Amino acid sequence: VDQTQSLFIAVLSSLVPNVALLVGVLIVVVLIDPVFALLTLCMMPVLFVVVWSLRRSIKAVSREARMREGRVASHITEALGSIGLVQAYAAERRLDESFRVYSLDRLQAGLRRVDLTARLPAAVDMVAQTGTAAVLFVGGLRVLDDKMTLGVLLVFVSYLRQILDPMRALAKLSSTISRGSASAERVEEVLRLEATIVDRPGARRAVGIRGDLELRDVTFGYDPARPVLHQVNLHASPGQTIALVGPTGAGKSSIAALLTRLYDPDKGQVLLDGRDIREYTVASLRQNVAIVLQESLLFSGSILDNIAFGNPDATREELLQAAEAAHVDQFVRDLPRGHDTPVSERGGSLSGGQRQRIAIARALVRRAPVVVLDEPTSGLDVLSEQYVMRGLEQLTSDATVVVIAHRLSTLRAADTIYVLEHGRITDCGSYDELARRPGTFARMHAVVMQGSGPGSRRQGGFPPDYGCVHA
Ligand SMILES: Nc1ncnc2c1ncn2[C@@H]1O[C@H](COP(=O)(O)OP(=O)(O)O)[C@@H](O)[C@H]1O
Ligand SMILES: [Mg+2]
Repeated sequence: VDQTQSLFIAVLSSLVPNVALLVGVLIVVVLIDPVFALLTLCMMPVLFVVVWSLRRSIKAVSREARMREGRVASHITEALGSIGLVQAYAAERRLDESFRVYSLDRLQAGLRRVDLTARLPAAVDMVAQTGTAAVLFVGGLRVLDDKMTLGVLLVFVSYLRQILDPMRALAKLSSTISRGSASAERVEEVLRLEATIVDRPGARRAVGIRGDLELRDVTFGYDPARPVLHQVNLHASPGQTIALVGPTGAGKSSIAALLTRLYDPDKGQVLLDGRDIREYTVASLRQNVAIVLQESLLFSGSILDNIAFGNPDATREELLQAAEAAHVDQFVRDLPRGHDTPVSERGGSLSGGQRQRIAIARALVRRAPVVVLDEPTSGLDVLSEQYVMRGLEQLTSDATVVVIAHRLSTLRAADTIYVLEHGRITDCGSYDELARRPGTFARMHAVVMQGSGPGSRRQGGFPPDYGCVHA
């Protein structure tokens, strides 16, 4: 950052006098030869557009890469809980195909960024050189025609260089910052993600957690300049279930990521049993907060091994119990080697619902007092969904549950539903309260219930702020 700043100052300090000079020269040239001046000026917007559009794509690609990184990280936390990310990456070779696809996706996004960043200075150079050549060419013709003196042309070109050089330096700056091969960058990003989430000095182990969960005035952005969550407040007492609903991109999964400390909030706090979760060791926190995501990662190894990842201390007896409770047994019965069937052997041939049930069993053996479910059944067919839901009931019976889902029955069962839109809690309350009030939830509800009763469709403005303080 320091380097960036000093470079910026250097660039600025050479840019300002150069611009002043060029403007002076331009005025003179405009007086002598307006057509020539116009030609020179044409170059500036072209240069500007090239730099601007390339930078925009670089930004977009970087964001994409970061999002994919975030997804990989969430999946690793889901599967391994307390194991650190870096260690998890070391264990990457044990991960099955689905993870490789994520990982590859991520790598490709990274490569695109490196590629674009490398192209920016080249593009700027090209515009600058072509422009200078054009100026020289037209200027040369004019000198030959005696419409301009050689002296004016030379002075003009030399000043042109002086303003173009700092511009090129600026364009190159961005590539200097993100230099390096894609693989180095990947390691860097993982390290960065890991490095920001470390145990505070004096962090305590989270033991005997009851499961009182609270977000207090949480503001968070993957890029702190662009928050995706704004002053979010929510609370779940031990054993309660709260649901998060809202459109895609509202920030639901980001809340889930904060709960396991994949990221820390920029402002505000996440509290577990009244304590900021940053006061606990990361490993013990993740042992206490189990996550089940929409698609779960499996590792090469047997089905039972995969369940054991949730808690390396679990006995075989406990693992089998979890498998039964999560309805893993229902499909394991038909496998030749039962619970010891290697997952890799069957590769992707386990269905989505079967994978989810293994993931639930894995979360079950963790016996976590807090369970976070991020759309665990979306993408499943109705039958698989039913089995998965029954597994989830086991998982969530005593725990504090944060569920992101849109199924009506799930929402009805929640003690409090929070409606999240554009990173803000816009409403909250019980299912019945929300369905009665005009607002986003009522509209969503009406769409789902459409045709199931007269007058269920409501029009209504944006809901007023209900405060959403729930005990
Ligand atoms: N790892 C990430 N890096 C940068 N931006 C992200 C990342 N993950 C999500 N986002 C952005 O944050 C916003 C909220 O996303 P998300 O929490 O996934 O919403 P939801 O789960 O409600 O669909 C979106 O605009 C998304 O593009
Ligand atoms: Mg999501």
